[in-house]
Amino acid sequence: MILARDLTIEAGIRTLVTGASLSLQQGEKVGLVGRNGAGKTTLLRTLAGELEPASGHLARSGVIGYLSQESAVPELDNPDLSALERVLTARELGDLQVRIEETRRKMESEEGEGLDLLIRRFDRLNVEFETRGGYTAIAEAKRFAKSVGISNDDLDQPVATMSGGQRRRVELARVLFSETETLLLDEPTNHLDLDAKNWLMEFLADYQGGLLVISHDLELLDESITSVLALDDGRVEPFRGNYSYYLAEKDRRREQRIRERKHQDEKIARLEEGIRRFKGTTEKMAKRARSW
Ligand SMILES: Nc1ncnc2c1ncn2[C@@H]1O[C@H](COP(=O)(O)OP(=O)(O)OP(=O)(O)O)[C@@H](O)[C@H]1O
Ligand SMILES: [Mg+2]
Repeated sequence: MILARDLTIEAGIRTLVTGASLSLQQGEKVGLVGRNGAGKTTLLRTLAGELEPASGHLARSGVIGYLSQESAVPELDNPDLSALERVLTARELGDLQVRIEETRRKMESEEGEGLDLLIRRFDRLNVEFETRGGYTAIAEAKRFAKSVGISNDDLDQPVATMSGGQRRRVELARVLFSETETLLLDEPTNHLDLDAKNWLMEFLADYQGGLLVISHDLELLDESITSVLALDDGRVEPFRGNYSYYLAEKDRRREQRIRERKHQDEKIARLEEGIRRFKGTTEKMAKRARSW
């Protein structure tokens, strides 16, 4: 869950967001929209805990999964990590899997007593992995990877050698595979083919946690979300409906604002006219009084 109150967010010398309040609870699916450079990514990064707001209150609880917009994915501690291992490390078991794989690699170059020791460690880790449901998790991780368009061959490739688009798909599979209460996704359909995109839309529509998603993909915003937050000129405005509803409601609100302004302008004009007349009358009276 995420609760933000009165957030002000700055980037360099610019204030991107002023006085934003929002909450993201279990089961809420929200699309964050706004024109290019409005500050959507910076707001999401702040909610994810990557950036500090200039002021305001931010409370976060539960496991939060964040997919960043850049295809330059975070530097990896271990450059040998395969795509499958990278996905698996989203859950605790993944670290165990990495330790098993490291032990296996070391076994290839050891002999004698050292090798016996490694074999015993390998067995022990494998038993632990199996009893903690590791093999089921691997099958699940593979399903996630396949769904976002990573082939079985690619799963064994080191992430470090992958193209930007491939790495981003790995990161998407990873964040969806992790057991999160909240998902913050920045342009998740970039680099996805149609099948993967359709799968993602269904996954997000069924997702039980809270979702905040930035996307230029209007179909995703119409199929998978239930409300919209519009970031415009530093202000965040909520709309209770999907993207189509937002478009219609935005125009309705704008027209209403124009009507209200016109109404107010007319009221001001009437008042000013009244004041002019009153002034005219008082001046006439003053003149008359002087001539008496
Ligand atoms: N660390 C920073 N220092 C200075 N300016 C920054 C910084 N980070 C972002 N900006 C600027 O802030 C503005 C908002 O950037 P941001 O990436 O949040 O927008 P966005 O709404 O996600 O845009 P897009 O739709 O193109 O992804 C941009 O003009 C960007 O250049
Ligand atoms: Mg952005």
